[in-house]
Amino acid sequence: MMIRKASWIKMKNAASTVVPVFRRRFACEKPVRSATLEVTCDGVYEAQLNGKRVGEFILAPGWTEYRKRLQVQRYDVTDMLTGSNTLEITVANGWFRRTNAPWTGTRNPDEFLPAMAIAALHLILEDGTEETILTDENWEVSESTVTLSGIFIGEDVDMTRQLSYEPAAICDFPKSMLIPQEGPEVREQETVWPRASFRTPKGEWVIDFGQNLTGYMAFDLEAHARERLSISTAEVLDREGNFYTANYRSARSQLHYVCREGRQAYKPRFTFFGFRYLRIDEAPAGFTAECLRAVVLHSEMKRTGWLESSDPMLNQLFSNILWSQKGNYLDIPTDCPQRDERYGWTGDGQIFCRTASYQYDVRQFFRKWLADLRAAQHENGWVPEVVPSLTAYKPGGGAWSDAVTIIPWQLYQTYGELSFLSDMIGAMEKWIAYIPAVSTTKDLWTGCWTYGDWLALDAPEDYHPATIELSKRGYSDDDLICSAFYANSVDIVIRAGGLLGRDVSGYRALYRRIRDAFTERFGGRLNTQTEKVLALHFNLTDHPQEVADALNEQILACGTQLQTGLLGTPYLLHELSRYGYAETAWSLLLRREYPGWLYSVSKGATTVWEHWDGIKPDGTFWSDDMNSYNHYAYGSVADWVFGVACGIQPAEPGFARVRIAPHPDARVNSLCAVLDTVHGRIRSCWRYTGDGIRYEIDTPVRAEIALGGTVRTVEKGSYLFGE
Ligand code: BGC
Repeated sequence: MMIRKASWIKMKNAASTVVPVFRRRFACEKPVRSATLEVTCDGVYEAQLNGKRVGEFILAPGWTEYRKRLQVQRYDVTDMLTGSNTLEITVANGWFRRTNAPWTGTRNPDEFLPAMAIAALHLILEDGTEETILTDENWEVSESTVTLSGIFIGEDVDMTRQLSYEPAAICDFPKSMLIPQEGPEVREQETVWPRASFRTPKGEWVIDFGQNLTGYMAFDLEAHARERLSISTAEVLDREGNFYTANYRSARSQLHYVCREGRQAYKPRFTFFGFRYLRIDEAPAGFTAECLRAVVLHSEMKRTGWLESSDPMLNQLFSNILWSQKGNYLDIPTDCPQRDERYGWTGDGQIFCRTASYQYDVRQFFRKWLADLRAAQHENGWVPEVVPSLTAYKPGGGAWSDAVTIIPWQLYQTYGELSFLSDMIGAMEKWIAYIPAVSTTKDLWTGCWTYGDWLALDAPEDYHPATIELSKRGYSDDDLICSAFYANSVDIVIRAGGLLGRDVSGYRALYRRIRDAFTERFGGRLNTQTEKVLALHFNLTDHPQEVADALNEQILACGTQLQTGLLGTPYLLHELSRYGYAETAWSLLLRREYPGWLYSVSKGATTVWEHWDGIKPDGTFWSDDMNSYNHYAYGSVADWVFGVACGIQPAEPGFARVRIAPHPDARVNSLCAVLDTVHGRIRSCWRYTGDGIRYEIDTPVRAEIALGGTVRTVEKGSYLFGE
């Protein structure tokens, strides 16, 4: 990469919060055949050539394990050149120099670095000669019109500021971590227009976009110099219908814009927000809702999965799950896009990964993130709870760190590419080697660290009263949880290692010992719903049907309600239907009261909530402090709809052969799933016709179709069946 020859540059005495803009003016006297710009920074940047934005990558260079991997973007700028040129690079804090959320109790050591840019412009002239312009002391720098910027803060802009340039200073900063761009770019994906503009009971002017989304507001207006536009963001309104921002915690999430004279258009350049509502706190005289629009941002991904039913509430749930993926696949898989978090929580990532890989082609997205996971993994094998990691952060522990095995294994199932396994096998082995070193029991993982069955509903009021954090866990035994996930990770290492031709006999023996120890210690005390679900899902019980019967009983006994949290919920419906209780699984899915997937839909949700009752039946909130309305974890139920309700299963990795075994339910008249696999489109639909069920199945490969107790093998084609 040419960029390695360039120097990092900064502003000599940058004392203020104002975002700097670096500039280089140059002439092109001879005709240019090609011009390529390589650029990156220690924050997020926007490059402009002759006043035009270079490329479409928003928030470049994205978020990686920066001290080990910092992506460099390469842009073809041939068509943007003229005789005399100005190249500008504006560098804001972004994620590299972000302020950590206060609740982490840690500071980001890179927070106090100066804003730095590094770039190389390579010109090949028509006469064959080459010229290179590198960042060096010939560049200039000025404070820009962006006076404050931060991922959690939002952006302050003053368009009346006069720029005043001085020579840039060279700084000594490593280049060894520079790598070519790996992930898909984050780009503007769609526009959402205001649905309503109204006054709240408190008198606030609020604009509703009708959809909770991740992105930013954009506006176009006529104003006088120094008039101000200030906008706050929110996901929900409170019970009285007033604007509500407490769930953002310390994330300010506002735009403050000082106008220049005349017509102007703007959108924040270095931040993003999670919102459905905007409050206009201050505006120029001529400002109306029509001046505004919302721009949706996410990583470039091709849509591959569609679900549609005859039930409008189910369809809204499917839409909410899709929007929660869009909202949280912004360069890394985040837990939520709005509060002072937006981190790559490994647990949430693994929970949602299968659904994500059905809805969109996420291969490139995860290739980059898994490389960051490898880079973030500690030498002794522990995997951080968030990736990219935050300094001084803890191991993720059971179920969170197991993202290292679960995600690559799932991607292999969805796409059939062995490289996901060969890239990760070393990291997987390191992780399972770490566990015996910290466990208090041989062949189990006890005394472990885990967030447990986070947010489960089965903890008695006085359980774990010590800290708020612990009170959010359910009643499932941490040792059982960690041991179950340990067994699963060892099992994945055996399967992956086998496929890669490695000797896995030692792991086989280890797995047998773990399984024996598990059944002996926990087999007789699978108490909670999640404990049963995990034992079933990871094949850790010798009496699966009995455990499933008991699970079903337990659910019915409490009024057909789930009590599972983050760990049990994704597998719950799968295990019920696997052991003959598809009807109970459907009842849970269709439940409109709390706790159930359609409850939030009945409360007007347009994305998946962190808590089943983020808004309670009386309109009050679950809490102020931990209440995201765009949290995809429970959206993982979509993989049950694809895989069980519509019955599309990979009989071979990558869907090279398919098994289709739908589980219809008469409470829904029709359901259809479409999945674009690497081998072509699979479609599985069913409809109740009055005197039976009609199935429509398209398969691009040989398929085994299981309907009403009959299994048929068919070649690729379109089929109709009746029952
Ligand atoms: C996040 C979760 C995450 C959890 C760890 C929360 O603050 O939003 O989704 O997995 O912390 O328990």
